[in-house]
Amino acid sequence: MNKDNSAPIGIFDSGIGGLTVAHKVKELMPDESMVYFGDIAHLPYGDKSAAAIQAYSIKVTDVLLQQGCKLILIACNSASSAAFDLVREYVGSKAKVFNVIDPVVEYVAKNYSNQKVGLIGTKQTVNSNVYESKLKQLNPIIELKSLATPLLVPMIEEGFFENRISHDIIEAYLHNEELEAIEALILGCTHYPLIKQEISNFYNGGVDVLDSATIVARKLQQFLKEHDLLSESKIRKDRFLVSDITASFEASAKIFFHEEVHLEKFPIWD
Ligand code: DGL
Repeated sequence: MNKDNSAPIGIFDSGIGGLTVAHKVKELMPDESMVYFGDIAHLPYGDKSAAAIQAYSIKVTDVLLQQGCKLILIACNSASSAAFDLVREYVGSKAKVFNVIDPVVEYVAKNYSNQKVGLIGTKQTVNSNVYESKLKQLNPIIELKSLATPLLVPMIEEGFFENRISHDIIEAYLHNEELEAIEALILGCTHYPLIKQEISNFYNGGVDVLDSATIVARKLQQFLKEHDLLSESKIRKDRFLVSDITASFEASAKIFFHEEVHLEKFPIWD
């Protein structure tokens, strides 16, 4: 494992959704440097086959390893569900690999025993059943009900949130009977924090809406602390690499990261 405290944390997603997690990581650990990679050339991952997502994830992981990252976070549920085991095996002892699913599953297993919990995410994430199988191992008496909500990513990326259209789409999905009488709803996609408030409003605050960003950022901090890997350097440098770029992505990146982001085109596909 890279034992250099000042080495960056590597974070990747299919695009800019993972910036919601990256933002929480920076908020909690401002002294850490970060290399973010958004594989915009292949967005969305959520509609692709597991084999395709695995191939993309390995290629992106290679970039993060070349950048000397001490830790790699897969900040995409679709890639976490399809490629985590493979990426971890590929990286071996070079860096610790985290995903955005395990910390949330641990949190739910601990806090919602004997209750009914809902999950929304991309087709890939929901059809993989990864949340169900991981949760069953930790706490088999939680009832998990999942619903694929594929319209939400393009809706958010096109800037439709907190308006009439997003309100209607969210309502149509959440009225699904699978999600009836739940105590908590897992936002199983790193784009969804942008519509967290709208989802909470739908339930009038009566359902806990759980996004992975804070839970995952805390997990990373705990790991770095325990392994004496927290950065002590006051010089930090963040890079935001993308495999393709359009003007609209740079504008949207700011909404996801809550501050100005300079995206660098870093082509890795011929
Ligand atoms: N951010 C991705 C996730 O968490 C969704 C976007 C995509 O489908 O690529 O699954």
